[in-house]
Amino acid sequence: MKDQQDQPRDLDGNPVTPGLPMAMLAEVTHRCPLACPYCSNPVELVRAAGELPANDWGRVFREAAALGVLQVHISGGEPGARRDLAQIVAHARDAGLYVNLITSGIGITKARLQELDAAGVDHVQLSLQGIRPDMADRISGHPGSWDKKMGFADWVTEIGFPLTINAVVHRQNMERLPDMLELAERLGARRIEVATVQFHGWADLNRKALMPTREQAVFARQIVNDARIRLRGRMVIDYVPADHHAAYPKACMGGWGSIGLNVGPDGTVLPCHAAQSIKWMRFENVKERSLSDIWHLSDSFNAFRGTAWMPEPCQSCARKTVDFGGCRCQAMALAGDARATDPVCSLSPLHAEVVAAAEADAAADTAEFIYRRMSKGG
Ligand code: SF4
Ligand code: FES
Repeated sequence: MKDQQDQPRDLDGNPVTPGLPMAMLAEVTHRCPLACPYCSNPVELVRAAGELPANDWGRVFREAAALGVLQVHISGGEPGARRDLAQIVAHARDAGLYVNLITSGIGITKARLQELDAAGVDHVQLSLQGIRPDMADRISGHPGSWDKKMGFADWVTEIGFPLTINAVVHRQNMERLPDMLELAERLGARRIEVATVQFHGWADLNRKALMPTREQAVFARQIVNDARIRLRGRMVIDYVPADHHAAYPKACMGGWGSIGLNVGPDGTVLPCHAAQSIKWMRFENVKERSLSDIWHLSDSFNAFRGTAWMPEPCQSCARKTVDFGGCRCQAMALAGDARATDPVCSLSPLHAEVVAAAEADAAADTAEFIYRRMSKGG
């Protein structure tokens, strides 16, 4: 067992018992045919040779189900880059998990999608980069991506999967958000996730091309609020706002180590997809320790549980159990300190500086992207 000193605690020094994770993101590969300038995978990608074999994923899924996980999001990179994807899906189904496939729709044929249906995929989540061929192909860095995605969406409907659209928004497409919502409706989606680009990892290299303006952030929030009323009962809208322009940060991951976990292609277990940007933190691997031990006992998962770790002004703030001090990876990126109050918070001493930098980037006269590509040999 862990040293009592290392247990997460509240501000009165009482030990905090972690809840159980409901969802697991299984990033089965980092390989991807797209080159999105805001890719959320770590800056250091895992190569094909380092990926966990399908049988190992089977063990991880069984451990996840025993731990309390109900649904697995099988993602990447592009999960279709794995030839054994149907086997991986079948293992997840055998473990009793609800299986959501998160895909770009590129590289999965109709026959393969039928095979994945038979293997146990319950739900499909398709990423869209734009609402027109030129926009989608330019942002994804993949000529022809739009046509392939629209064809894929048709197969999803034909086979009868429930569909979620995943739309990342930023300065170069935010004004087309109403069209994106309309497209999602037309494709028969039951849910759309509208996520403003998060500026850590690769996206940080493209701040000047992607940072939305304050006016765009206000516009997007209004569009989402109106659409939620208009589409009630037909399509659910999940929204990750542009928090550089908000008063308070988002409750990232619903709180560190509280409701979900990520397993990377090589079996590294992370409290969130960007956690490896916190360089001093050591992350454990399913090859060396059980998922349950990692969830309950590892230093990485316990690092930001409870409230005792929080600095001021979070410790004295009424929102500390609402947003949990914001995003640790954003604190790392903007303050250089993962333990800091998320600097997008209006109560952070760094807030004015962060807003000034965001506004300068939003006003930058560039549309050029630094694309994300895995070098040869991936
Ligand atoms: Fe959240 Fe901390 Fe800001 Fe309060 S001070 S709103 S807890 S980030
Ligand atoms: Fe890591 Fe927010 S992305 S805590």
